[in-house]
Amino acid sequence: QALRQLLFLVSGTTLNCLLLRKDMCSWSCGIQLRYNLSQLEQWLRAQGLQQSGACEVLEPLVQAAQLLQVKKVTEEDAGALCSLCTLLTPQQVVKILRAYTPAVGLEERVSPGFISSVERRLQDSYREGPGQLLVDTSHIFPVQLPFTASPLHLDELHIPESLNLAFLGRL
Ligand SMILES: *[C@@H]1O[C@H](CO)[C@@H](O)[C@H](O)[C@H]1NC(C)=O
Repeated sequence: QALRQLLFLVSGTTLNCLLLRKDMCSWSCGIQLRYNLSQLEQWLRAQGLQQSGACEVLEPLVQAAQLLQVKKVTEEDAGALCSLCTLLTPQQVVKILRAYTPAVGLEERVSPGFISSVERRLQDSYREGPGQLLVDTSHIFPVQLPFTASPLHLDELHIPESLNLAFLGRL
């Protein structure tokens, strides 16, 4: 649970950084981010922590890294991109596409037509509106403590007088 909270903070802060810094929105940054994230995922697996919920909190950032890497030209690309980014809000997806910096000599700028096509598709599937832009990194997950019922029959328990617990009553 501590790791999930910590990685949520790492993931949310990085995603916010990506959303606010144009220089991070590039294909090469996407590759680096994906590689770094896969190292974290591998470490979690090696520690047997894949069920801890820690992998899930990294997932929006994984999708953002993939968004930076996929082709962004045709209508099919727009459809594929939308089915990839299920954990990002429409506002986040559009912001990253607008900020995307093409690799010099290798890529074209993402066309306004492509961006509005993505925007339309996301509006259709995401009914809650554009959603928020930045991740609320102050979010705290509730801590869950496992409850194990006592094997003792408490009503048969005899409390020694020497413990001075006379105020304890039987319910
Ligand atoms: C990836 O991790 C390296 C350190 O291992 C760091 O220098 C680099 O900035 C990270 N890049 C991204 C995009 O997270």
